[in-house]
Amino acid sequence: MFDPAAEVQAAEQQQHASMQPERGVDGRWYSHGQVALGHAVFESHCARCHGERAQGLVANWRQRLPDGSYPPPPLDGSAHAWHHALPMLLQIVQQGGARYDGKMPGFGDQLSKEEQLAAIAWFQSLWPDETYRQWASPAASSDMPFAPPPQRVK
Ligand code: HEC
Repeated sequence: MFDPAAEVQAAEQQQHASMQPERGVDGRWYSHGQVALGHAVFESHCARCHGERAQGLVANWRQRLPDGSYPPPPLDGSAHAWHHALPMLLQIVQQGGARYDGKMPGFGDQLSKEEQLAAIAWFQSLWPDETYRQWASPAASSDMPFAPPPQRVK
């Protein structure tokens, strides 16, 4: 059963673990194994929309499509994803964009939580250190580019 509160709590614990450098890759929250798994997950489930290198497939991810929705943005650190704390990223992967009138499908039923987190780990592994540092700082917000933020996770 999907329990959003438990998911968010677990994701927060994961992000908190990033404060302990010895746990992950270069002081980040994830392990090499997660990045490797995430790469495979991303290729099979995400790349067709977000691009093979998570670079996005449109010239301007801020520009709405004719139907009013937003195109899939880059996730490689060049766009907006780094504004979202881990619980929010996980929520987007699980539930998709429907909550925000978005087009992204949710992967809560198709991917295990391990795979969902790994996919996030992989695209975060593309982020420069400075971007990651800003993301990991408490000031990072969870606002969405395409809609007002839902109730704040924290
Ligand atoms: C069918 C196309 C499609 C697929 C497949 C897809 N996405 Fe998305 N994604 C989108 C769109 C479109 C958005 C913009 C918000 C919206 O419209 O829902 C988005 C937004 C996101 C965001 C928020 C980015 C931001 O800047 O706020 C994340 C994170 C994300 N996707 C991760 C993933 C991951 C991880 C996968 C694979 C498990 C994936 N997406 C698969 C279309 C897709």
